[in-house]
Amino acid sequence: MILSPSILAADFGVLAEQIKRAENAGAKWLHIDVMDGHFVPNISFAMPVIRSIRKYTNMYFDVHLMISEPERYINDFIDAGADGVTFHIEATKNPDECVQMIKKRGKKAGISLNPATPVSDIEAYFDKVDMVLVMSVEPGYGGQTYIESVNEKIRYIRNKMGAEFNIEVDGGITADNIDSVLKEGANIIVAGTAVFNDDIEGSVKGLLR
Ligand code: DX5
Ligand code: ZN
Repeated sequence: MILSPSILAADFGVLAEQIKRAENAGAKWLHIDVMDGHFVPNISFAMPVIRSIRKYTNMYFDVHLMISEPERYINDFIDAGADGVTFHIEATKNPDECVQMIKKRGKKAGISLNPATPVSDIEAYFDKVDMVLVMSVEPGYGGQTYIESVNEKIRYIRNKMGAEFNIEVDGGITADNIDSVLKEGANIIVAGTAVFNDDIEGSVKGLLR
């Protein structure tokens, strides 16, 4: 299992320090939520922040683009330090172009779908991407409740793609439900509010145990 703590829930005033704490506690990936106020109602942060934190850690930068027309910015996010770039199927008319742009730069391509989007909408990309990111909340905000009905999608993808395929699940995952999400077939777990609280080290260790 890979834990990918989402910095959306971190204290941005001491961001590098909080990232190091998560890393030292055993987290290997860092989930970076980019929001444009268009694909999702909220706005978060973008390239300058990624470029800044890139200097402080060698963690795998798992960049989750919640932006419209991601193909306009994919190269910029890779220049800023992304190791993997995940875009939403609902956000682009050119998913193949997105995958190719990411792969051409030697980075890992991920495709994501919202809770309401059927898995059949991304099925044609399973063999082309390195990872599927199943959203288990409506994208846009941290701290929401896990939507149980997405479990069916996780099971379907795991069943179809086999044990080695990367399935990341994002939203509403805590120490209380992480085991059940893993049991459904996820192998990469995003956690924001469940990591970046008063006890980052204890939270990371608790989720990884
Ligand atoms: C939601 C983001 C998530 C979010 C998860 O739009 O994609 O990555 O930060 O936050 P929690 O773990 O608090 O649900
Ligand atoms: Zn995310």
